[in-house]
Amino acid sequence: MEKKITLHDKTFKLYIPNEDIEKAIDEIASKMNRDFSDSTDSHHPIMLCTLNGAVLYAAELLKRLTFPVEFKAMKLSSYEGTQSTGKVKAELPAGIGDLNGKTVIVVEDIVDTGNTIVAMKQLLEEMGVERIVVCTLLLKPEVYKKDVKLDYVAMSIPNRFIVGFGLDYNELGRNIKDIYVLDQ
Ligand code: IMP
Ligand code: MG
Repeated sequence: MEKKITLHDKTFKLYIPNEDIEKAIDEIASKMNRDFSDSTDSHHPIMLCTLNGAVLYAAELLKRLTFPVEFKAMKLSSYEGTQSTGKVKAELPAGIGDLNGKTVIVVEDIVDTGNTIVAMKQLLEEMGVERIVVCTLLLKPEVYKKDVKLDYVAMSIPNRFIVGFGLDYNELGRNIKDIYVLDQ
C-alpha cells in the first residue's frame, strides 16, 4: 500500500525515499570535495545554511565534507502554506561575522521561483562576499527563471509541493526523513 501522511488539512504521499536523498547528497559531497580540495585553514569557504528548511540537508552535507570549511546559518522565508508569497524575509544574524572577501556556499533546501536565492545573493554582495556558490538539495526547473547560477543541484523535481527532510507545510513535516508530495 502507498505510504501516506497527513499534516494539518492535507495528505501527502511518499515521493523520494531517504536512501535516494542520501545517495544524491553523497554525489554532491564528492563533487564539492573535489572542487574545494585547495581549501586551507587560512583560506576556506563558509557554508551558509538557510533556516529553517535547509537544516537537515546542511547537516548531512557538512558531515561528508573533508576540506576546511566554516558553518553559519541565517533565517530566510518566502512561503506561507503551499505558495510562495514572492516577498522574501531575511534576518541577518548579529554574529554572522565579516564575510568581506570570503567564498560563501549558500545551502538551500529547494529553489522554486528563485526569489529567495536572488535576495540572498544581493545581501551577500552588499556584505562584500567575493564568491557565492549555490548548493541546493532540490530544484523545480519548470518554475525557476532567474539567472543566478545554481552550482550544485542534488535533485530536480516537477512543480509539485513537497514536505519532509527539512521542508515544511506550515511548519510541520520537517522531521520526516523521506520526502512526500501533496496528494491531489
Ligand atoms: P523560492 O524563493 O520561491 O525559490 O522558494 C524557496 C523557498 O520556498 C525554499 O527555501 C523553501 O523554504 C520554500 N519552498 C519552495 N517550494 C517548496 C515546497 O515544495 N515545499 C516546501 N517548501 C517549499
Ligand atoms: Mg528555504
